[in-house]
Amino acid sequence: MVKSVDEIIFCFGELGANILELRILPGTVEHLSDCIEALRNSELGEVYYHPEDELRVGFTEGFSKGEIFVALDEGNNCLGYIWIALSGAFYGFPYCRNIAIKKNWRGRGIGSALLRYYEKVGFENSNRLFILVSDFNHDAPKLYERLGYEHVGVIPNLFKMGVSENILVKFGSEDDIAETTG
Ligand SMILES: CC(C)(COP(=O)(O)OP(=O)(O)OC[C@H]1O[C@@H](n2cnc3c(N)ncnc32)[C@H](O)[C@@H]1OP(=O)(O)O)[C@@H](O)C(=O)NCCC(=O)NCCS
Repeated sequence: MVKSVDEIIFCFGELGANILELRILPGTVEHLSDCIEALRNSELGEVYYHPEDELRVGFTEGFSKGEIFVALDEGNNCLGYIWIALSGAFYGFPYCRNIAIKKNWRGRGIGSALLRYYEKVGFENSNRLFILVSDFNHDAPKLYERLGYEHVGVIPNLFKMGVSENILVKFGSEDDIAETTG
């Protein structure tokens, strides 16, 4: 279970206008439809298509494990989510299983805020954070690189034949945590 941190993060809209006050909180089934909408309206959701009932079961399990965090605006509208499995990579390192922002809200800093949240909880547990990016996803890698993730490998045909997953890692400082055993 990921420790929950209730915090307010300020995101800046274009040219610094339209300041958006964002809270990141553990998601609940109340946010199910919003999370599914964020994922569905993306190439990621299209390529890795799952029927609605499968998505509902998957997200509900993620909520109950406390692994999904949602970004809420001042009106408590859910704009996107991040799914963090704290020991999801190699049974010992944090793995960001998924991140998606609602289509009309992309490019405004919400994804960066959720990824900063990932760093905050992830580096309390490990000094390496993992994320996978599919080869068809050409925009997301720029964001991860900007945030300091390094490309360390590729796994072909991991989730689907014909699609490769790029492995990205963000290395923390040696002070971030005691060594993780392999
Ligand atoms: C990738 C994603 C989570 C980033 O969230 P975001 O809120 O749009 O990201 P931010 O506003 O903090 O940062 C913007 C950066 O994200 C990247 N980006 C990726 N997809 C984008 C999109 N559709 N629109 C705008 N920026 C996008 C760009 O590199 C952009 O950098 P730039 O501002 O220098 O052009 C979001 O775009 C999304 O939900 N995409 C669809 C699902 C997906 O691909 N998830 C990633 C799985 S690995």
